[in-house]
Amino acid sequence: MAKFVIPSTILCLLIGIVGPGLPTVESLQCVHPPSVWCSDKAIAKSCQVEKQCEKWNPPTAQAPPVGVALYYESLCPGCREFIADQLYPTWQKLGNDVINITLVPYGNAKEQFVNNSWEFTCQHGVQECRGNILETCILYVAKDFTTAFESIHCMEASTDPVTSASQCCDEASLGFGPVSDCSTSSTGNKLEHQMGLLTEALDPPHKYTPWITLNGVHTDTIQEKAQSDLLSLVCDTYQGTPPGACSNKHDVCPK
Ligand SMILES: *[C@@H]1O[C@H](CO)[C@@H](O)[C@H](O)[C@H]1NC(C)=O
Ligand SMILES: *[C@@H]1O[C@H](CO)[C@@H](O)[C@H](O)[C@H]1NC(C)=O
Repeated sequence: MAKFVIPSTILCLLIGIVGPGLPTVESLQCVHPPSVWCSDKAIAKSCQVEKQCEKWNPPTAQAPPVGVALYYESLCPGCREFIADQLYPTWQKLGNDVINITLVPYGNAKEQFVNNSWEFTCQHGVQECRGNILETCILYVAKDFTTAFESIHCMEASTDPVTSASQCCDEASLGFGPVSDCSTSSTGNKLEHQMGLLTEALDPPHKYTPWITLNGVHTDTIQEKAQSDLLSLVCDTYQGTPPGACSNKHDVCPK
């Protein structure tokens, strides 16, 4: 938690409000120095600065984003549907401050170390392995997750994720050159191996794709909710003040 320091402007404001003309019982109980007034609700109350502290210390400040990890492979129809219908629209509504997405493009692939590099075998063939590495390289080359996810969503939502890669990178202002170079280099090979390690480390091990975890946890219930209404699942899990997009969700009311 961040150390609490009240800047002098706020301090003046607070003193101005509780200073003169309020010799009430509560203010007499305010035995704390102004520097700690907003550090605790009871203290704020005794010093009559509750409202000021709310503004100053919004409850969302310390809530971490909800972690949603997707273990998938580039050509699996269910994965493409989940990205297009759930993950991408939910992320657009909530943003990186509320949902922290981890993409792991590997899925049901297998790997073997041959002649000093990894050889991948993919469920939907060679093109799927190519798509996995391209998306892994996009995550590596892009300067931020937003750029990477825009590119990857564009690929997964297109009729052919692999041949659309170049155009999708362009549209997200991500040069395709470095992505393509990465995908055929030993760096790309090692990065895709890392995706394999992350996938093989799942506990419980994945049985199918897409495989979804919520804050690192996979259960059948989480999987079903994520695939039917990810927005509600993330909104209900988020510990901070729900963002506007959470109250606008129409299909599920929080219990
Ligand atoms: C997002 O998730 C990643 C991977 O789990 C983690 O390393 C990172 O710290 C998280 N970021 C935030 C802001 O919580
Ligand atoms: C490994 O590389 C050597 C030399 O290039 C080659 O002769 C051999 O067939 C390769 N092995 C496999 C399994 O690809």
